[in-house]
Amino acid sequence: MSSVLKASSTTSASNCSPVSASYWDFGDRRDSREDPIHRIHSYPAKFPSFITTKALEHAKRNGVDVKVVADVFCGCGTTAVEAKRRGKSFWGCDINPVATLIAKVKTRHYRGPALVRYFEAIQEGFRSTKPSMEDRARISDRIRYWFEERNIDDLIRLDRSIRQFTPAKSPYRAFFLCGFSNILKPTSRWLTKSIKAQLDPHKSPRGVMEAFEDQFNQMQKACGANLFPARGQTVRIRTQDFLASEKPSCLVDLIVTSPPYVTSYNYADIHQLSTLWLRSATDYRELRRGMLGNQYGVGPPSLEAIESLGTTTAEMYQGLLSECRHKAHSVARYFLDVDKAVAKCWRMLNTGGMAVFVIGNTEYKGIRIDNAAHLARCMDRAGFCDIASTRRKVSLKTMTPYRDARGRFTRDLTAREVYGEEFVVVGRRS
Ligand SMILES: C[S@@+](CC[C@H](N)C(=O)[O-])C[C@H]1O[C@@H](n2cnc3c(N)ncnc32)[C@H](O)[C@@H]1O
Repeated sequence: MSSVLKASSTTSASNCSPVSASYWDFGDRRDSREDPIHRIHSYPAKFPSFITTKALEHAKRNGVDVKVVADVFCGCGTTAVEAKRRGKSFWGCDINPVATLIAKVKTRHYRGPALVRYFEAIQEGFRSTKPSMEDRARISDRIRYWFEERNIDDLIRLDRSIRQFTPAKSPYRAFFLCGFSNILKPTSRWLTKSIKAQLDPHKSPRGVMEAFEDQFNQMQKACGANLFPARGQTVRIRTQDFLASEKPSCLVDLIVTSPPYVTSYNYADIHQLSTLWLRSATDYRELRRGMLGNQYGVGPPSLEAIESLGTTTAEMYQGLLSECRHKAHSVARYFLDVDKAVAKCWRMLNTGGMAVFVIGNTEYKGIRIDNAAHLARCMDRAGFCDIASTRRKVSLKTMTPYRDARGRFTRDLTAREVYGEEFVVVGRRS
């Protein structure tokens, strides 16, 4: 255990060439905004794209010859886009179908004139269609809860038109469904920018077609210049539970990933509008199953399993038990899952390969949940060497790290702090 570094340290020594304290804080151009491609669809806890650039640079400096990059919790495809751009092959997965839809759309090539042609056909189809009684009858009460009648009708028309005028399973169908997905919150009564499922009774939702046109223009500019993968380069993105099988799907040289944080975002609930409209599940709650950090339906772990995680974790678990049994169980389940995920990452790496994990700590009723230190311990147990943990500042430009009582971002510094900092934990397979 001696090689495991305390995640609270600023930078830690290892055989890897050291990085400066601020290495992971900024991209090379400090004033640079994220490339528009990273803004085509909102996604919670997306990390900045320069993390991948820095990870590639760090790997190269340490002699890792990177041909294949993986992100095992790929979210909306930030790592995928940056790895592809730099000529690397990519393998990624996410359990959330909305995430993999966005990631695929961001990494595919489109012909500009075809995009415009499909868009015009969809607009025309929208104008000339009306929802039938059956269409309306199929709309669930959950959808009715979020949307006004007029927008429900317009969303039915738009959805039908996209499916009618784009070839099934084509990148173009995915492109327009991704756009459709991103207008669902502005056209509903979902509390704007909230990361909790909350209704805003005072909101005036946007009109469907007006929002879709803006969305198309934004996506066309952002993705219109996407290239085909180079010769020999592959980009594979799967919708799957990374922990469903122990066997790695492929071997890679560099993993850049950010596991969910426990007691943090609930991805199934946050994406319920997209899940329901895109018919990824009849009940969005089905998607909670298998999600790391999920707090629903988690039973008590065995004592043996908890003890296998070490004394620090076992003590934290005991502390949480006295506050809330349910929360304690979900934190324990999360820690056990992270342990499995890290071991699987080790098995996915080629000899000499590197893994870069980005993770933040959380807190519950004053009990600190040190996700980063736990991750470093799991890496040690899995056989990683040269483990080093660096604290990185979460840029205030990209995210205000405070939330008010309703879960909205706020600049009120007296509100509950969320993520002012996080950790980049690096290790290698020797
Ligand atoms: C912190 S986010 C990753 C964000 C990503 N780095 C980006 O820039 O978009 C963590 C992701 O892990 C996914 N996830 C949770 N449990 C999973 C599992 N068992 N298998 C695969 N993905 C999972 C969530 O759906 C979420 O997208």
